[in-house]
Amino acid sequence: MAQKLHIKTYGCQMNVYDSARMADVLAPLGYAVVDDAEAADMIILNTCHIREKAAEKVYSDLGRMRQLKAAREKDGGRMIVAVAGCVAQAEGEEIFARAPFVDMVFGPQTYHRLPEMVARAHRAGEKVLDTDFPVEPKFDFLPGEASHPRAAGAGAAYLTVQEGCDKFCTFCVVPYTRGAEYSRPVAGVVAEARRLAAAGAREITLLGQNVNNYHGEGLGGVQWGLGRLIAEIADIAGVERIRYTTSYPADMDDELIAAHRDVEKLMPFLHLPVQSGADRILKAMNRRHTAGEYRRLAAKLRDARPDIALSSDFIVGFPGETEADFAETLALVEDIGFTQAYSFKYSPRPGTPAAAIGEQVADAVKGERLGRLQERLNAQQLKFNRTSVGRVLEVLLERPGRDAGQLIGRSPFMQAVHTEAPASALGSIVRLRITAAHANSLAGVTVADRPSAFAGERATA
Ligand code: SAH
Ligand code: F3S
Repeated sequence: MAQKLHIKTYGCQMNVYDSARMADVLAPLGYAVVDDAEAADMIILNTCHIREKAAEKVYSDLGRMRQLKAAREKDGGRMIVAVAGCVAQAEGEEIFARAPFVDMVFGPQTYHRLPEMVARAHRAGEKVLDTDFPVEPKFDFLPGEASHPRAAGAGAAYLTVQEGCDKFCTFCVVPYTRGAEYSRPVAGVVAEARRLAAAGAREITLLGQNVNNYHGEGLGGVQWGLGRLIAEIADIAGVERIRYTTSYPADMDDELIAAHRDVEKLMPFLHLPVQSGADRILKAMNRRHTAGEYRRLAAKLRDARPDIALSSDFIVGFPGETEADFAETLALVEDIGFTQAYSFKYSPRPGTPAAAIGEQVADAVKGERLGRLQERLNAQQLKFNRTSVGRVLEVLLERPGRDAGQLIGRSPFMQAVHTEAPASALGSIVRLRITAAHANSLAGVTVADRPSAFAGERATA
């Protein structure tokens, strides 16, 4: 009988990808993915450790899993509960101490070993802990076939090409939880992109913690950068849109910037986290760029692709941040004109250098600064969205909307767009005339079928 697998995913897109890959690894063992945790024979929480709130959420959810498991056992049944991802990597054994009913704890680099772990957990309730950084890259052991879509949306797929981080920003846990930087060889990436396209992916988002520092073994024995990889993937029939995330400003090389000019399928949107606009804070964060370098980089990108929309991450209230430092962040926001962004209060993470700095900023101050920053960012986003009204944008329809007959898609600039369309249009790219703009989304109406000869995706005025 088929076993039921429920995976709950927290955090970043790489976790979304990893969850899908875990489903791929478990499919040959007879596990089929279900939405309902209560019905599951195995529950995997694929966790995020980036900020304190994310990690605490996992423990509160585990409380619910304990009840589900107890109810199942009362009926004489069995349920395996696993904690995967970055909380598992960071806390390891401690998870068994805080939640003794958990059966398996494993980190992001070991899930190719899941079949063996599951067998061990089944054997008389053995506890399984695997937080190694194995020498063998897991990608060599993952099945080729996809048993589960590798993205949140129809027609859009995530593809991890690079993992880990060697940058050691002083606030960040990623170098500890994801390990050293590793780039997958081009051949494996391209083969996976082909399979995704054959399975209906129109858009592929290349993922990595430092994706723009990709340096995989190329097709001629030499190393390839991300720009070259993007050009190769653009040649795959069926792939109409390419994105990549997340990038580190100091790693944007000329070849990649040129790809924004030369590769039609590369979408005019880039998430390029800056964190702060104050050089003093950037230095304390161990970011290897200044605010001025970031401004020049934005200008270069706009030279290559004048309509490129820029997005960012910000941390407010990093230890030692003064009002003057924060004002420099607001000034940078003003200068760049981000079309969307994520912003967070600094969250001290155990074991990271910044957590040990004496001058922590009071929470009330962080909250107040975050409010002011988000007000600016939201205003910029709305302003940008309003410039879309009246234009025709190509939109990939990714998911059903709240109302019947409504679908939601993404514009080339990553804006969410609502429209009336039949469910059969899910996963396809349509041309919509934008009729309304809101802070977080657009509304549009179909203008005409997409001419088949039109393979580009530049917005037409
Ligand atoms: N390059 C990475 C960035 C990882 S974390 C990637 O793969 O996306 C995503 C964002 O979380 C960071 O850009 C940063 O803005 C934020 N972040 C990381 N550590 C944080 C902390 N300790 N407190 C608050 N925000 C943090
Ligand atoms: Fe984290 Fe900085 Fe790397 S934000 S993922 S240490 S680039």
